Amino acid sequence: MSLQPHGGKLVDVYYPETDVTALLKEIEIDAIALSDLELIGIGAYSPIEGFLNKKDYETVVENMRLASGLVWSIPITLPVDPAVAQTLVKGEEVKLVQDGAVYGTLTVGDIYEPDKEREAKAVYGTEDKAHPGVAKLFERPSIYVGGAVKLIKKTEKPFPAYTFEPKETRHIFKEKGWKTIVGFQTRNPVHRAHEYIQKVALEIVDGLFLNPLVGETKSDDISAAIRMESYEVLLEKYYPQERVQLGVFLAAMRYAGPREAVFHALVRKNYGCTHFIVGRDHAGVGNYYGTYDAQKLFDVFEPEEIGITPLKFEHSFYCTECEGMATTKTCPHGSEARVILSGTKVREMLRAGEIPPSTFSRKEVIDVLIRGLREEATV
Ligand code: ADX
Repeated sequence: MSLQPHGGKLVDVYYPETDVTALLKEIEIDAIALSDLELIGIGAYSPIEGFLNKKDYETVVENMRLASGLVWSIPITLPVDPAVAQTLVKGEEVKLVQDGAVYGTLTVGDIYEPDKEREAKAVYGTEDKAHPGVAKLFERPSIYVGGAVKLIKKTEKPFPAYTFEPKETRHIFKEKGWKTIVGFQTRNPVHRAHEYIQKVALEIVDGLFLNPLVGETKSDDISAAIRMESYEVLLEKYYPQERVQLGVFLAAMRYAGPREAVFHALVRKNYGCTHFIVGRDHAGVGNYYGTYDAQKLFDVFEPEEIGITPLKFEHSFYCTECEGMATTKTCPHGSEARVILSGTKVREMLRAGEIPPSTFSRKEVIDVLIRGLREEATV
């Protein structure tokens, strides 16, 4: 077990002093590219130092590896409008901008047209445009431009007190004296099932890094602001303060299921985690992936190629006979005793004015969600 970043060293390509006045060309980047730029810059995507060039893109799409052979499961690409791409020259440095602000630069590498059908099939397992990740893939511009980046300006943070870079979390974990740290990815409020698997994990590791994703998500997911409030009340009341660290993950959600689970694990390794929770249908959406496909994908690689230990959990639920949280591994009762609600179902209930049972979600969390959704509805 090691705290080595993926590829051995934490990337740092943040150069705030860069003078860009001589750079005349610019590429307007979208929200996903902006979050990727920042995550590359601060080393969250180590060993990646820029948007993928053609060779790396091909091997990531085909084999879930960078051209170097290192495991990497999600292509980090910069889609550019063809009219803009046409004006770019390999080797030149251009500005990466959004709404007039310069966030970084790119040294233009490969300019290439991806086969998006193939990318969709390989990465998302489907070409169905009803899949939010696939829809996004096709919605973005049709030419990819690769190349090393410099991060010049970091984005304004909605949750500054909970925003840490990999080098900072590594420092925090060290300060706390944690040797083993489990990372937990979520795009939902923490429900009882999440709490259960986090706490089971906490029985065997030193600390929990609760690392909710707050980048772009699909529109019906609960907003990051409401979720953050729900995490705060839950942690305050039900978790041992000295064994949990809350910190946000700035990436966009891809909904790529198994491949995104491996990506999520590698990134959390960069933040200093030694373990990573993979439960049921991790990063899934609809019925595109099997319940445990994400867990199985880890077995395709040698453990040392991933370098962070996946903690795989069965679908967990509250059992009225056991009078507690359980999984099929620990509970002998039938489905009539099991309270199984999905995040989607809970959102539907809340939006219909119904209150989900406390066996599914803590009352404090439900209160925050009801208030948050009501406030959102009146804005
Ligand atoms: S995700 O898209 O961020 O993965 P979610 O926030 O629902 O979605 O899940 C966070 C983590 O908890 C994932 O590892 C997921 O597999 C796991 N998980 C969610 N619900 C359950 C459950 N009922 N039982 C076991 N694991 C679960």
